[in-house]
Amino acid sequence: MSDSTSSQRIGIVGAGHIGGTLAQLFSAAGHEIALANSRGPETLEATIAGLGPRARAATVADALRFGGVAVVSIPLGRIDELPADGVGGTIVIDTNNYYPQRDGQIAELDADAISSSGLLQRHLPDARVVKAFNAIYWENLRDRGRAAGDPERLAIPISGDDADAKQLVARLIDEIGFDAVDAGTLEEGGRKHQPDTPPYGARVGAEELRGMLG
Ligand SMILES: NC(=O)c1ccc[n+]([C@@H]2O[C@H](COP(=O)([O-])OP(=O)(O)OC[C@H]3O[C@@H](n4cnc5c(N)ncnc54)[C@H](OP(=O)(O)O)[C@@H]3O)[C@@H](O)[C@H]2O)c1
Repeated sequence: MSDSTSSQRIGIVGAGHIGGTLAQLFSAAGHEIALANSRGPETLEATIAGLGPRARAATVADALRFGGVAVVSIPLGRIDELPADGVGGTIVIDTNNYYPQRDGQIAELDADAISSSGLLQRHLPDARVVKAFNAIYWENLRDRGRAAGDPERLAIPISGDDADAKQLVARLIDEIGFDAVDAGTLEEGGRKHQPDTPPYGARVGAEELRGMLG
């Protein structure tokens, strides 16, 4: 894993499989973490204790406004509950996927009128949304980080409309032991690594992932 060029303040909304794993990996990489769930900061004491001195529990609103980067890692059907105030300019990493059996049927997604990341972008209009970590199973995220150049290093597809935001997210991904591969814009690129696409859940390196993304 590469040296961190600077410490970021990263708010993470969702302390489950993906959010909790990212909290672990990002704090170990030297970043400041504010972690939130739906039940409130007081329910996160044990989790925070296991994350070390760079992590704290927060409300959802405070996690979203904690720094220049926020992760949203919750069931997609609940994104409308997120407070949109104060996230102007924030890079919001969207890990979410649409699972109708969990999220309920969402007509616009069923009609492919918008992507799941598009829904989050619409809900947080001033955020710079980057879709990332949606296509990797959480145990692989937890266990499969490798140093740059390692032949077993896995790649993670990312999509977004803001080049600087994608660059920063790619650096964060590199720091925790994965190669980021740019799939394109949020709407078009993001559809290429949503559920039921070849990259979704694929344990492949950067070159193979680029091939899958076309
Ligand atoms: N599991 C995977 O391998 C995987 C891989 C890639 C992407 N994803 C996607 O990433 C997202 C998170 O998945 P997960 O497996 O990490 O879920 P999870 O383990 O079920 O955890 C969900 C987290 O979201 C929190 N949450 C729910 N509603 C919330 C709200 N309205 N405000 C704030 N926090 C809320 C929950 O808090 P409480 O416990 O307090 O309710 C919990 O901490 C999903 O969209 C999923 O499809 C999952």
